[in-house]
Amino acid sequence: MIQPCSERAMRFTESVIREMTRVCLKHQGVNLAQGFPDFPAPAEIKEAAIRAIQGNFNQYAITWGAPVLRQAIAEKFAWYNGVAVDPETEITVCCGSTESMIASLMAIVNPGEEVIVFEPFYENYGPDTILCGSHPVFVTLHEPDWHFDEHELTRAFNNQTKAIVINTPNNPTGKVFSREELQFIADLCLKWGVVAVTDEIYEHILFDGAEHTSLASLPGMRNQTITINSISKTYSLTGWRVGWAIASPRLTASIRKVHDFLTVGAPHPLQEAAAAALRMGRSYYNTLAREYQEKRDYFAGVLQDVGFRVYSPRGAYYIMTDVGHLGVSDGTAFSLDLVERGGVATVPGSSFYNTPSSGASKVRFCFPKKMDTLKKAAEKLKKFKMPKGLH
Ligand SMILES: Cc1ncc(COP(=O)(O)O)c(C=O)c1O
Repeated sequence: MIQPCSERAMRFTESVIREMTRVCLKHQGVNLAQGFPDFPAPAEIKEAAIRAIQGNFNQYAITWGAPVLRQAIAEKFAWYNGVAVDPETEITVCCGSTESMIASLMAIVNPGEEVIVFEPFYENYGPDTILCGSHPVFVTLHEPDWHFDEHELTRAFNNQTKAIVINTPNNPTGKVFSREELQFIADLCLKWGVVAVTDEIYEHILFDGAEHTSLASLPGMRNQTITINSISKTYSLTGWRVGWAIASPRLTASIRKVHDFLTVGAPHPLQEAAAAALRMGRSYYNTLAREYQEKRDYFAGVLQDVGFRVYSPRGAYYIMTDVGHLGVSDGTAFSLDLVERGGVATVPGSSFYNTPSSGASKVRFCFPKKMDTLKKAAEKLKKFKMPKGLH
């Protein structure tokens, strides 16, 4: 009998993160698995969306993005990231960072070419590298500070390397790549003619004075970088599905073609409202970072108190933890137990590793939640008896 599913689709599983959300709903737990806020998005952005719908922005936008949004993206990329781009030829608006990443990889990678991915990695990058037909090459971010070994990274580059995926600030580790680290990556990209695809979706969620550097702003990298971003995390609008890829005209032309045939375009009225979001006053971003830092401080403390080993994040809104010292070596069983008996949903660390055993004793929590929600989760965690014998 002919196998009805493609070999490609058989090579990866459903998202564990999204599955944990479904398990959480079943057990009516507190969802600290999937990274989305449970507090409202800013009122002025919601009002802009209502105005856009009433104002009849309800048909397809230009495939690569409404002009007003591309203009706003270019303005913001100039002031925050220090790179001037042409909205006519260098920006493609997609359905979230998710589509921006897969469209970009499909637009530049040939089957069999290599794509370097730092591990642990945001779950989607695994299937993304498979869907674009590439051969993924994983380079470890070493705990506790999640640094990469320069020799290991250097060895990963060769004539077959087409792209490297970077995510800073990083999900799941909370690492913020330093300028020096990015310069080291940039030098290798320039030496080997490799495209850096950089997911900067958490660029404003930074703690303890950490600073965000865009790879595209480093000398020589402007035309060799695809910068990916979206409104999901910065403006608490994960459900709107508006993101973008910024790249040189040559790369953009290819990304636009793939994007057109994948989705045609992101929701038009929400693109109009996203332009209003990107033009909000600069103080918005300071408040965002400060409020998330308060949540991080509170929740990292809770996790430590109940016995988790905590890797304190410098950016993004996740806390990676380890429970190996408690005798747990199956993080998936632990996470299921925690949501079923304890009522708190998390993501097992194994879903961020190519070799699941590497993350077997790790568990990721997210904290983009109201303080009340985090306090509710804290109460549940305090009552939860750490299991014995899950190994
Ligand atoms: C690193 C990273 N990239 C992309 C996404 C998805 O972003 P979007 O909602 O823009 O598709 C997430 C969501 O958690 C993420 O953590």
